[in-house]
Amino acid sequence: MNWRVLVKLLAYPLRYKMYIVFLVGISVLGVFLAILKPLPVKVVIDNVLIGDQLYGAYKSVFDFFSIYSREGMLWFSISLLAGITVLSSILSYLTVNYTAKLGMRLLFELSEDLYAKLQRLSLNFYAKQKMGDIIQRITGDAFVVYLLAAQITLPIITSLFTFFAMFYIMATIDLTLAVIAISVIPILGLVLVFMSKKLNDTTQQQYQKQGDLAAFLHESLSSIKIVQAFVREKFMFLKLQDRAHNYESAYLKAIRTGEVYKQYIAIITGIASAALVGLGAYKGLHGDVSAGELYIFLGYLAALYGPVNSLSTAIGTAISFGARGKRVLEILDSPEVVLEKANALPITNTKGSLSFKNVFFRYREANQDILKDISFDIEGGKTIAIIGPTGAGKTTLISLLSRFHDPTAGEILLDGKPLTDFKLHSLREAISLVLQEPFLFPMSIGENIAFGNPDASEYEIEKAAKLAEAHEFIMALPQGYHTQVAEAGTSLSGGEKQRICLARAFLKKSPIMILDEPTSALDALTESRIFERLSNHTAGRTVILISHRLSTIKHADEIFILDKGSIVETGKHSQLVANGGLYADLYQHQHIGV
Ligand SMILES: Nc1ncnc2c1ncn2[C@@H]1O[C@H](COP(=O)(O)OP(=O)(O)O)[C@@H](O)[C@H]1O
Ligand SMILES: [Mg+2]
Repeated sequence: MNWRVLVKLLAYPLRYKMYIVFLVGISVLGVFLAILKPLPVKVVIDNVLIGDQLYGAYKSVFDFFSIYSREGMLWFSISLLAGITVLSSILSYLTVNYTAKLGMRLLFELSEDLYAKLQRLSLNFYAKQKMGDIIQRITGDAFVVYLLAAQITLPIITSLFTFFAMFYIMATIDLTLAVIAISVIPILGLVLVFMSKKLNDTTQQQYQKQGDLAAFLHESLSSIKIVQAFVREKFMFLKLQDRAHNYESAYLKAIRTGEVYKQYIAIITGIASAALVGLGAYKGLHGDVSAGELYIFLGYLAALYGPVNSLSTAIGTAISFGARGKRVLEILDSPEVVLEKANALPITNTKGSLSFKNVFFRYREANQDILKDISFDIEGGKTIAIIGPTGAGKTTLISLLSRFHDPTAGEILLDGKPLTDFKLHSLREAISLVLQEPFLFPMSIGENIAFGNPDASEYEIEKAAKLAEAHEFIMALPQGYHTQVAEAGTSLSGGEKQRICLARAFLKKSPIMILDEPTSALDALTESRIFERLSNHTAGRTVILISHRLSTIKHADEIFILDKGSIVETGKHSQLVANGGLYADLYQHQHIGV
């Protein structure tokens, strides 16, 4: 049972206590009108048609308006009935309107919290989650909070109120009948207990299968090029059908279970109504109740079982929403790895000197160290290069610097202080990072370059682009820097995307620059031109460059050779060549190749 989930989500509607009081207020007014509704008809039956004398409250009302003739009573009663109907409609309209407003407000707030939370969650979270499923949780499942207000909280409050009011009035008419009427409630409770697990399980399945389907759609469409290239459209289609069928059957099962539950309630209350009609009519035959009273009683009976029905439905709904709410809370409750100490410092005036001290690292749930006992120092303002076979751990090593992960053992220092001493945002601000896979946002090329530096002027953007040898091809695009990437996305080559990403990093003038194979898709000549020019612009900045091209890295102040997670050689180009190790081998190969 997911009551815990509902209680936690209830915090959202509870932020709007006054709003809820107002909504309950107009609902209660509606209930009050529903209670009044059969009364004019009772007067018409008992006092106008049959001619009984008015008594009690009825008499006071007609006396108050000085109505004494039967015809006067008729017109007054009918006008009252019409008035009640119109007022009920207005109240219904207001209730629906304001409930929707509240629901949307809550949906907004929950979605914002979810998005903010997702922005904070670490890469470990994303390694385990499917993007499509996450999107389904925000865009679909977050709707629970709307329904929680509109279909659970308000109906439950209103039904309870109606129920007690109706019971009170029925009891004043005939206590026995009223007691019999509410004796069905324990039976309904039993049905609920009996069905709740099934209701919960089937809806949970339903939304999980829906998430699976969304995840599959997302993944298969984002890799459509590969699907087409390998001619696997049919294969993927069948896989999609598979998931769609799973969703279909889970959906139908949930609908059937929900409907069976509803109909059980309808049958139980229906049988009870029939019994009460019989009993009431029997009493009427023996003159224990008047025809008008019987009319009221039967009217209220429907009105009593109305709330009982909607209460049971609301509880059933609450159970199924628990399953959906759980999917939302799984995100909200995901542990945030706290990366920042309470007394973390901002980085001011860093020299950009970095040290690795016996750093070990392994990915969570992996069973071997990716980095083994890495120790080295980088003097501030120097350019160093890291080279090594694929899978050696180069990308992993630099991702520790931005603290996408923290070392499993050992320490990384910036200006002699552990990275963990600094504010996370401040640390990441201090680093310009070019990732191995170039990534462009669906915005204009200019905005992509200015992503880390939104206040940059057009002049600065162009300067960065020129430095990255991107200016010329950008100007050749139909709208230059204003060309939208979504349109140009497929027409940009890998090398062009890389150069835009380089420009993005160049524009963010951080004291530390990390370039992870940023020019792998460029020819050697363009690459060396970029780096020659770059070296004029990086004076005083620490640069860490990962590349396979020795022609580029041989100018670095120091070169580290990483192999299977360990640093196997260190030194300047000339020393390394002279040493005759792995580096010298690579150099021999590339030299002959070129
Ligand atoms: N998120 C991850 N979870 C588990 N293993 C990973 C992850 N990322 C990379 N690896 C593994 O770490 C090793 C080093 O990868 P990487 O640092 O990308 O190497 P390089 O950049 O030198 O090619 C590889 O064996 C890779 O499979
Ligand atoms: Mg890599």
